[in-house]
Amino acid sequence: MEITVSRKAHFNAAHRLYNKNWSDHKNANVFGKCNNPNYHGHNYELIVSVTGKINPETGYVIDMGELKNIIKKEIEERLDHKNLNLDIAYFSKVIPSAENICIFIYDILRQNINSEFKLSVRLYETPRNFVEYSG
Ligand code: NI
Repeated sequence: MEITVSRKAHFNAAHRLYNKNWSDHKNANVFGKCNNPNYHGHNYELIVSVTGKINPETGYVIDMGELKNIIKKEIEERLDHKNLNLDIAYFSKVIPSAENICIFIYDILRQNINSEFKLSVRLYETPRNFVEYSG
């Protein structure tokens, strides 16, 4: 029997969607406002879900304090108040779309959460637009 526990987190970050292989005109047409050369920000909301068996000794799947600390140290401190294109080396080569940010976050968390658990990351770029990645 497996059950899923989730933790919400938050960070603010700036980005610009831009494909360096395209003309400025095509970038503007495809990415619209998200192509603004001077960047723009989003209030990202993150939901990290961990699925596994309940430990009979604790009644927990995972210690939520421990999960909170991993998210804070590995994700919030890395991304909060950053310009994703300029401050995060990974996004110098990868377009910082919500899809790619979600995968970036998943890959970091996956290295920090025991492989006995399934992991899923949902990232809201706006209250209505979100992506989810489970590896
Ligand atoms: Ni944007």
